[in-house]
Amino acid sequence: MAPGFQRREGVLGCDGVSLEEAAVRFGTPLYLYSKAALVAAYTAYDRAFDPVPHRICYALKANGSGALLRILAGLGAGADIVSGFELEAALRAGFPPKLIVFSGVGKTTDEIARGLDAGIGEFNAESEEELGRISAAASARGRTVGVTLRVNPDIDPKSHAYISTGLRQNKFGVDIALAPDILRRARNLPGLAIAGVQCHIGSQITDLEPMEQAVRDLVALSNRLLADGFPLRVIDIGGGLGVDYEGGTTLQPAALAARLVPHLEGLPLTVLVEPGRSIVGAAGALLTRVLYLKENRGKQFVIVDAGLNDLLRPALYSAFHRVEPVVSRGGETRRVDVVGPVCETGDFLARDRNLERVQPGDLLAVRDTGAYGFVMSSNYNMRPRAAEALVDDGGLRLIRRRETFEDLTRTEV
Ligand SMILES: Cc1ncc(COP(=O)(O)O)c(C=O)c1O
Repeated sequence: MAPGFQRREGVLGCDGVSLEEAAVRFGTPLYLYSKAALVAAYTAYDRAFDPVPHRICYALKANGSGALLRILAGLGAGADIVSGFELEAALRAGFPPKLIVFSGVGKTTDEIARGLDAGIGEFNAESEEELGRISAAASARGRTVGVTLRVNPDIDPKSHAYISTGLRQNKFGVDIALAPDILRRARNLPGLAIAGVQCHIGSQITDLEPMEQAVRDLVALSNRLLADGFPLRVIDIGGGLGVDYEGGTTLQPAALAARLVPHLEGLPLTVLVEPGRSIVGAAGALLTRVLYLKENRGKQFVIVDAGLNDLLRPALYSAFHRVEPVVSRGGETRRVDVVGPVCETGDFLARDRNLERVQPGDLLAVRDTGAYGFVMSSNYNMRPRAAEALVDDGGLRLIRRRETFEDLTRTEV
């Protein structure tokens, strides 16, 4: 049986551990993760790209919790980071600096300096101006650093507008047609070793065609640069593989690799892959208790103790997550909105959803919330951020305690 969250005899569990026990021990809302599912997802990527020299750089933005990062670092993963503190988190978790690639459209001078001092593998630059900034910082230190250039191929990933990143109207990367000229100029800058080109067209991608097109374009550009004598050593194809939030069959890394590897084989380059969501998304669930049931002129509401401050995705992207009673009693379903306690009409986890009859005190699981869940949580309405726990080899342990009032006010001056 696949590791992670499974229902047996009507009860949803995680690798043999009771979700009710986790909720009682650590309270709700609680993010719960399966170590076995995390390991399986990473390993599937590593194996899938075996036919080519590769480095799987886990995108920390999907979930930066230390316990999960340590597991991935222990498996030999690299890291894709987008901020100075993600760099600190990656280093603290034990990712070797040389396996870290620093992405992001707005790196500050301080962040660039910290990356240089840490000795990271590559900066993934997103503009010509940034290349100049990295060059100045590197040469001031008497150093040479690897840089990749993120290109924008103007390809529609057929995903949500907010998470499309490879269209010309998106802020990411430089026009792919301009990349050779930009790199020709950058070649003369001190402190830069042009290591390759990068492309990431978006997230939650379920159609492989746009990804294949982007990789084709990236390979063509890499070959042109190699022919021009650039000493490239990597080709960074980004992340973006989606999760089937409806609970069907999720596209596996093997299917992605089957489409992409034929284009990448034979290149004298190491392939960097930057998956986030597809590594950690299905490995996590948000556990929440029903507080109240309420009816408003025929409209049914299930009010739970997790809100948009805990899980922003439904409000931000109208994202769909399965919401399921942990203990299924069967019987008829009712059409309900599952809503949180936050004072916003947009505070819902599910809308117009058929849900079995539930009662106050029942435990619900919001599925596939391992990625872009906890990391996007906030203290809105002065709500503490949730606790996080890990199921590890049949055991259950807290990996982040729930915040206290003192935590929320600690930085006030
Ligand atoms: C540069 C880059 N790499 C990797 C990722 C990870 O994407 P995903 O979580 O969809 O795999 C992102 C996400 O937006 C990104 O911007």
